[in-house]
Amino acid sequence: MKGLILAGGSGRRLRPLTHTSAKQLVPIANRPILHYVIDDLVGVGITDLGIVVGDTADEIKASVGDGSAWGATVTYITQKAPLGLAHAVLVAEPFLGEEPFAMYLGDNMFEDPLDAVVAGFDGRGATARLLLAKVEDPSAFGVAELGSGGAITALVEKPEHPPSDLALVGVYLFGPRIHEAVRAIQPSARGELEITDAVQWLIDQGGVVEHRVLDGWWIDTGKKDPLLRCNELVLDTILPLVGGTVDGRSTLDGPVRVDEGAEVVDSTLVGPLVVGPGARISASTVGPYVSVGADCRIDRSTVEKSVLMEGSRVVDVGLMTSSVLGRQAAVDGGASPGNQPVSVLLGDHSVVDVGQ
Ligand code: DAU
Repeated sequence: MKGLILAGGSGRRLRPLTHTSAKQLVPIANRPILHYVIDDLVGVGITDLGIVVGDTADEIKASVGDGSAWGATVTYITQKAPLGLAHAVLVAEPFLGEEPFAMYLGDNMFEDPLDAVVAGFDGRGATARLLLAKVEDPSAFGVAELGSGGAITALVEKPEHPPSDLALVGVYLFGPRIHEAVRAIQPSARGELEITDAVQWLIDQGGVVEHRVLDGWWIDTGKKDPLLRCNELVLDTILPLVGGTVDGRSTLDGPVRVDEGAEVVDSTLVGPLVVGPGARISASTVGPYVSVGADCRIDRSTVEKSVLMEGSRVVDVGLMTSSVLGRQAAVDGGASPGNQPVSVLLGDHSVVDVGQ
């Protein structure tokens, strides 16, 4: 079985962060989301990987390389514009050929390994296998309708009036008939070739479309709050380890990882928390649920429930919470920091002065 990872697209909902970088490379516990995606596929023995890339191709290639770090082989597939998930399959056909494949959306993260999802699928008996999860707001997703026998009878993309609470989550298994389906459908009202329409075509042609309902958590990280929630869920699994330096005036409470080359001075660290290499924290309280990227600085501040990307700074901020800072971004409380908690989503290199 081959793997097809979708890492093109525009990342509208995470702007301004995604004006300058790919949403699939936003770090969760200091690792790009895309790296977890590759872990999952390789974890079930899928090592022949195609990655669909768009405008952010260069940084994705720089981050993943040829896949050898995972023992995988990566083929990059250029999609000139984000014309839909089914369009991504269309442009990937030369790579996929007649083999069954697992399509994995590059901004999705899962708690559980994929073993049960891929077991026994060869793309010949069933033409597709979808993964579903119960969600509170199905209208934000593709939604499946099940018939009385329990099989999927219809699929709709982001419906105003969802027929069920079962959302399509970001892993799909397909046999070779999907290539006929993506050629047969027309663009939707939003101008995209929808994978839901392609699967509906398979159903209408009498193809067998199986499904599994997910047990563990699943997060589409494409917006700030789910991204922060995902950061929390992954931080909950970290192992405490201090590779950097922590001075005698600092205290560590709960699972805290301080990477080699990081420095903690006169501060309180509350886990779960990761501090990346070269980061410096002084006279601050950090955590719980903070990912401090490489070379970040936090001075005289309190930070909780946030993702600080590489090289970002928080200085003299009374309380920063539920925030995402892009690379080299800075939040500064100035000479008279206020008492109000600060919550921001900052693009790379942005600077915000939150003093009063
Ligand atoms: O997260 C699950 C949902 O993902 C499903 O419930 C929906 O049925 C499905 O359409 C999709 O919806 P999103 O609106 O979240 O898709 P998004 O545009 O975020 O794209 C998902 C991934 O695929 C993301 O990594 C970008 C990439 N992509 C997207 C498009 C439209 C491409 O590589 N090429 C594309 O043309």
